[in-house]
Amino acid sequence: MKNIILMGPPGAGKGTQAKLLISKFNLPHISTGDMFREAIKNKTPLGVIASQYINDGHLVPDDVTIGLVKERLSQEDCANGYILDGFPRTIPQAEALTALTKEIGREIDFVINIDTPKEMLVERIGGRRVCKVCGAPFHIVTRKPKVDGVCDVCGGELIQRKDDNEEALNTRLEIYTKDTKPILDYYESLGLLKSFDGTIGAENLLKEISKLLEAK
Ligand code: AP5
Repeated sequence: MKNIILMGPPGAGKGTQAKLLISKFNLPHISTGDMFREAIKNKTPLGVIASQYINDGHLVPDDVTIGLVKERLSQEDCANGYILDGFPRTIPQAEALTALTKEIGREIDFVINIDTPKEMLVERIGGRRVCKVCGAPFHIVTRKPKVDGVCDVCGGELIQRKDDNEEALNTRLEIYTKDTKPILDYYESLGLLKSFDGTIGAENLLKEISKLLEAK
């Protein structure tokens, strides 16, 4: 089974790898960040809560996030595998996920950590542009769209995310170090963690991760 978590700091390349992996392995992509941004765009009650936290780089409270993932992971399309991106982000979320996946018989098989140095994260986030319609990530230098400002995937407009400014990024990096990084030790102790070099380019990284997924 391919029940996968993608981990790494903001800008490590989780969303990029998730999008490459879903087309290769045909798995549903569960990104809590994308779910929150969609809810904010549609002005739903969840979006109203999330917008109080997300734009300045703070975490949405655990109870809201855990409930959202519980509902999504229980859906039928996750029965044969899934890719979690951006969840878990705190130890309580990781523990809740262990209990939840056990309860529904969809336990984690791989925790893939994308290890990328801080200087590179700042460069990547500063140059990132995302599609307003489908969320596909691009970069003004390293992953340019074929036509400037236009998404290669769906033709949507490319924009900068509201939380991709220096102040919010600093908050996100601090929270990552304090709340999220300790989860790596948790998964190491469960024998599930595998770390990859996030500096090698998206296609090369895809090949390395694919080798791990195909070997099992
Ligand atoms: P989320 O959307 O999950 O953001 P994040 O974790 O900060 O990660 P990013 O999306 O910024 O980066 P990424 O690693 O996906 O990088 P990408 O592939 O785009 O969360 C946003 C917010 O939602 C949180 O701050 C929080 O408020 C809330 N939230 C979400 N989940 C939550 C949870 N569980 N609990 C509480 N709150 C939660 O790549 C970045 C750039 O680099 C792109 O331009 C890309 O083209 C380029 N790039 C990628 N890979 C490579 C490569 N290998 N080589 C060269 N360039 C590359």
